[in-house]
Amino acid sequence: MTLIAALKLLLVLGIAAYLVPQVRKPGKWIGRPFAWLMNLSHSRLTDWGLQHVRIEQDLTMLDVGCGGGRTIQKLARVAVAGKVYGIDYAAGSVAVSRAKNAEGIRAGRVEIVQAPVSQLPFPENKFDLVTAVETQYYWPDLVNDMREILRILKPGGILIVIAETYKNGKHNNLLGPAMKLMGSPNLSVEEQQELFAKAGYDDIRVFEENSRGWICALGRKGPLGHR
Ligand SMILES: C[S@@+](CC[C@H](N)C(=O)[O-])C[C@H]1O[C@@H](n2cnc3c(N)ncnc32)[C@H](O)[C@@H]1O
Repeated sequence: MTLIAALKLLLVLGIAAYLVPQVRKPGKWIGRPFAWLMNLSHSRLTDWGLQHVRIEQDLTMLDVGCGGGRTIQKLARVAVAGKVYGIDYAAGSVAVSRAKNAEGIRAGRVEIVQAPVSQLPFPENKFDLVTAVETQYYWPDLVNDMREILRILKPGGILIVIAETYKNGKHNNLLGPAMKLMGSPNLSVEEQQELFAKAGYDDIRVFEENSRGWICALGRKGPLGHR
């Protein structure tokens, strides 16, 4: 390899090392295009996943790791008599989500807060439904973060986790190693079920879209609240 080729390779690796973390945590300015791209690339996956829950007009809902805010917008279009909240720990995601949902925010039907999943700024028993699209594998402490969501769900409320890859799914050969490199857990259907159970959820169900390699896992907070 010539010196020029080696320098080019180093440059490409350097740019990649800088940009890849923007997917995990979009920065205030450089991360914004990533949040916009997520809105485009996750829309069909989100629509498929949301078919597994009933979204009623008067629900109070939270989208965790809201990215570019498209899921919030989808939920708010249905919940015309309810309220949709979004949280994300990244400044870039919060900025893009707020811009995307400016109308809902002005109308008082949407609220977006910068916060980590591990410390949700909401009281117990507030939400009917919590959604998490393409974000769970970035969370720092899966069991405790899932328990934190259980805390803020109403008894009978549902958490739905939607993702475009999982262990043994169609894209696992391609995306599995990338997730390993990023230090992200890559759960199978059974491991996802175990995680929900360990965190204290009831009525756990997992759906696969085999042709696309998508997964959607749901759990309900029991009538007696979280354990
Ligand atoms: C790949 S994006 C997905 C965004 C959006 N849910 C979607 O489907 O387009 C992952 C998002 O999760 C957020 N995120 C990752 N870890 C988080 C954490 N610990 N707490 C809150 N948000 C987190 C990131 O900032 C990013 O906006």
